[in-house]
Amino acid sequence: MKTVRSKKELRELLEPLRAGCKTGLVPTMGAFHEGHLALFRAARAECELVVCSLFVNPTQFGGGEDFARYPRDEKRDSALAQAEAVDFLFAPPPDEIYPAGFETWVEPEKLALELEGVIRPSHFRGVATVCLKLFNIVRPDAAYFGVKDAQQLAVIERLVLDLDLELEIRAVDTVRDSDGLALSSRNAYLSPAERRVALTLPRALTLGAETARDGGDPVRAARAALDEEPGLRAQYVAVRDFAGRRLLAAVQVGATRLIDNVSLEGDGK
Ligand code: PAJ
Repeated sequence: MKTVRSKKELRELLEPLRAGCKTGLVPTMGAFHEGHLALFRAARAECELVVCSLFVNPTQFGGGEDFARYPRDEKRDSALAQAEAVDFLFAPPPDEIYPAGFETWVEPEKLALELEGVIRPSHFRGVATVCLKLFNIVRPDAAYFGVKDAQQLAVIERLVLDLDLELEIRAVDTVRDSDGLALSSRNAYLSPAERRVALTLPRALTLGAETARDGGDPVRAARAALDEEPGLRAQYVAVRDFAGRRLLAAVQVGATRLIDNVSLEGDGK
């Protein structure tokens, strides 16, 4: 695996390798866990050339959010990506992506203004902009995203359709810890007591999915289960068609925000 910092160098390295190769891109912000590794494996299984981007994207964090304390450990991440046979790790400095004078944005509308978008108003503008830039820099045939961030996946699928991008978006199922908590770089913020409280989130979503299977209201069931736990605050519980019909929720546990979702279409993933 080669680590590359500049757009120019990455383009020059990729260009001669492209012919007859399927190129896969896995965009990330680092602090790798098994969820990221599942994306690398999916890309590795389908593509001859696998590029992982590692960039903690400042423009998708709001003013009061965790940009400054977001976990960063490139050495560890680099070893993990290398072990998954990633070919190129693209880890640019901020001014390589946002040079002085940068002022052009991708502004997703309706899809980006609800749920996460209500709580994080310019989040998806930052995500859509950086992803379009990464797509233009790497020019992948396929890009890999986790269903864990189902609204993000829907925003990216919309972006590809609306801007006529020639790449395939591949969705990878959520990887969970053995106790059911969806893996997230932000789980590192949770104290052991908060982590126990956080387990209410996947449990409430599973209960919601079971309730839907029995003909009941999944939102009501999940909301009631979350409201019973005094250690967290539910921000939203909703059903949407993001990568199939899904029950989604966001909660605040202490200083940490967690999001998760489950399918309402039978497999429960
Ligand atoms: P990050 O949070 O690092 O996530 C990178 C990718 O890993 C995303 O597609 C996310 O959905 C996926 N992922 C996270 N947790 C997962 C889990 N438990 N199981 C499966 N996949 C999981 O999402 C971002 O970075 C950024 O917004 C990014 C797309 C890189 C743009 O900056």
